[in-house]
Amino acid sequence: MAIRVFVQNEAGSTEKHYHDEKTLVYRFSRTVAHKYPFPYGFIIGTSARDGCNVDCFVITRRTLRTGQIVECEPLGLMEQFENGIDDHNVLARLTDEIADVTPDVKDALTEHVLACFQNVEGKQVSVGRFLAAIDAASHIASHRTCAATDTAMQIEIREEGAADVAAIRDVNIRAFGQNQEADIVDALRAHGAASLSLVATIDQRVVGHIMYSPVAIGPVIGTGLGPMAVLPAYQRRRIGSRLVEAGNQHLKDVGCPFIVVLGHADFYPRFGFRPARPLGVRCEWDVPDDVFQILVLDPVRMADVTGVARYRSEFATSV
Ligand SMILES: CC(C)(COP(=O)(O)OP(=O)(O)OC[C@H]1O[C@@H](n2cnc3c(N)ncnc32)[C@H](O)[C@@H]1OP(=O)(O)O)[C@@H](O)C(=O)NCCC(=O)NCCS
Repeated sequence: MAIRVFVQNEAGSTEKHYHDEKTLVYRFSRTVAHKYPFPYGFIIGTSARDGCNVDCFVITRRTLRTGQIVECEPLGLMEQFENGIDDHNVLARLTDEIADVTPDVKDALTEHVLACFQNVEGKQVSVGRFLAAIDAASHIASHRTCAATDTAMQIEIREEGAADVAAIRDVNIRAFGQNQEADIVDALRAHGAASLSLVATIDQRVVGHIMYSPVAIGPVIGTGLGPMAVLPAYQRRRIGSRLVEAGNQHLKDVGCPFIVVLGHADFYPRFGFRPARPLGVRCEWDVPDDVFQILVLDPVRMADVTGVARYRSEFATSV
């Protein structure tokens, strides 16, 4: 049984990282009491009892980095109970390596789990039996999410890197059928004005992109969503939705007060956007009311904020 493991925590480190387990976007980190003996993460396309994915240790001495997705085979199952509820860990090997759950491996894993939880208030954690590969396979099978989610899970959402610039340009040109939006993206980036730029990849290939940049309503600075684009061959598979969900969540997490968008009237309301005009917010350009929309993330800061929403000057030539 082939499984794909998203590595969150690195062997030899006490940093425990949290990611949004649907979008794989990084959220925050904290320190645990004991170094991870092996790389630790979760199995993509599963759903465990605690609402997260099924957790997995990769039994390898190879260095695996946070954010890597690795192809594995299940080796065994380590029973773990949190306050009496099962929260078992799959033990896996990399598909191109041979590994075994030796007594030393079992001791290292048990010591790690117990050390991490021994002083955590309100959590009683115990380790049970170490079961065979076949038990791990049936545990994974019974926690598989539906096939559709599985397909969606092969999409990775992450921040753009320097190597993505040409592919992002290509996605924008092909999605819009012109250069204008790609030029805006390049200009915003060149001027250091991209508040957030995410790519969607399938097998490392960029298939979608979203950029946010600063927008001012009077003295309050929030962000504008756009341009965003998905390669025509990949549209209507929720890739655009996942980019919006990931981007909006990130901006909310970092305290952005609002997001505005100029675009499809029936697409953006799915994410909580509403026409901006009834809230007293207008677009600086003359556009129909239903396409200029706002998502208020901080109602307190936005309570009396009205007026014209002004984008960066890089957009000026596009409307
Ligand atoms: C808009 C876009 C980014 C959506 O990405 P996606 O991965 O196809 O979106 P999802 O699969 O998550 O959602 C699909 C929804 O997008 C909207 N949508 C997609 N293409 C659309 C189009 N050509 N016109 C209007 N709405 C469209 C629809 O609401 C659709 O919902 P439906 O399938 O129920 O009809 C993508 O279609 C695209 O790149 N379009 C061309 C460029 C563009 O218009 N960018 C946005 C400018 S605001």
